[in-house]
Amino acid sequence: MKLMDSHKNEPRAEVVQDVKNYPALVRHGAGVFSEFIGSIPGSVAPLMLGIWNADDLDHNDVIFEPETDEVKYIISDGAEYLDCVSEYSAAMFGHSNPKILAAIQEAMNRGINLGGPGNDEVALAHSIKDRFRSIAKVRFCNSGSEANTMALALATHVTKKKKILAFENGYHGGFIQFDSNPSPTTIPHDFVLGRFNDIEYTRSLLSDEIAAIIVEPMQGAGGVSVATKAFLQFLRDAATKHKALLIFDEVVTSRLHINGLQGYFEVYPDLTTLGKYIGGGPSFGAFGGLVEVMEALDPKHSSPIHHSGTYNNNVFTMAAGVAAAKILTKEKISKANSLGDKVRDGINSAMKDYNTQLIEASGMGSMVGVRFSGPAQARLRDCLFFYMLSRGVYMGKRGFVSLNLTHEEKHIDQLLDSFYAFAQEVFGNCKWMK
Ligand SMILES: Cc1ncc(COP(=O)(O)O)c(C=O)c1O
Repeated sequence: MKLMDSHKNEPRAEVVQDVKNYPALVRHGAGVFSEFIGSIPGSVAPLMLGIWNADDLDHNDVIFEPETDEVKYIISDGAEYLDCVSEYSAAMFGHSNPKILAAIQEAMNRGINLGGPGNDEVALAHSIKDRFRSIAKVRFCNSGSEANTMALALATHVTKKKKILAFENGYHGGFIQFDSNPSPTTIPHDFVLGRFNDIEYTRSLLSDEIAAIIVEPMQGAGGVSVATKAFLQFLRDAATKHKALLIFDEVVTSRLHINGLQGYFEVYPDLTTLGKYIGGGPSFGAFGGLVEVMEALDPKHSSPIHHSGTYNNNVFTMAAGVAAAKILTKEKISKANSLGDKVRDGINSAMKDYNTQLIEASGMGSMVGVRFSGPAQARLRDCLFFYMLSRGVYMGKRGFVSLNLTHEEKHIDQLLDSFYAFAQEVFGNCKWMK
């Protein structure tokens, strides 16, 4: 199949049709997706597949069911996909790590949600404090979105100021996101937006009115771009100077180093937010930091701030998180990171061989972002996504790859071989694309 039309500046007209005909996607479950959207608007599948356009909805007839091999998904008819999304970075331990499953099972035997504190949450709090130097006290919640929402509320409460410096393309969950269009779901704080890694522009926005600066040490949803140490240090100094609280959103980035990217860069925030894999797989969020800030959450504080939630210490997450913390080691993180480096190097050197920059792999360690440029970038992105699916590789449609501790060299070879075949289709046959 030729993907690109060498006369027009875009994929061949038939490509869209070819893509729709990828058998693994369309053959099965034609009724399943309509069942989903009957009760769930858009279903969760668009999120899973990174599909947002109405035109793409035809491709959603896919149901994922985990197989025993931890890095594979299987759809209802038995077609297999290599999982390179890892539940958008949360499935750091695969989908069925036996130690995590056993811990959840054991917790279940003790009783589901007992209406009071349990030992596992103390153990999980300790393991988090051990990993992240900036966290002296920590509170749990059920998602990274909640963690960031609470961290900002806490910062404005403690500093008695309102303005929050965040960054263009920052993503801090469903309630705090700054892509090109203002989102009606973003909570109505007095946000001012700096530019990621742009010290001079950001400097022009600083003032004593700022309560908090919130930043991802590597922007994830905004393109998998790593912050420079100089930028993070600049934010650290700015926060100190203006008596604002520096918040690192390490919901994703903490997986890249045993001490988080704060430990890697040796730049420490006042508050850190966490989520995803730290809870071992079930819903999880946490925020923590300086004693004097976190103590405002204590009801005995002179001016306490309320943080409640029925499931904040749900027994499954607490138990899974404790088991997960015992599995995670520097060595395992480093292995996943080096596999990620291999993916990045493989993609970038293939693009160099074809003498093109239309596709570029970015990111750090186990988090890889695939960026597309040029006039046909959206089509190129879609074609890559569906092409990879047709070869049994599931990556995020926006060009997102997240590896986990169960990935091995052979999985990376499968991913790269599929990518090379795609590159040959597109760049080997269309001289104009170069
Ligand atoms: C950097 C970052 N912060 C926060 C969140 C939100 O976490 P959750 O989806 O658990 O609400 C995400 C989710 O992808 C994220 O990437």
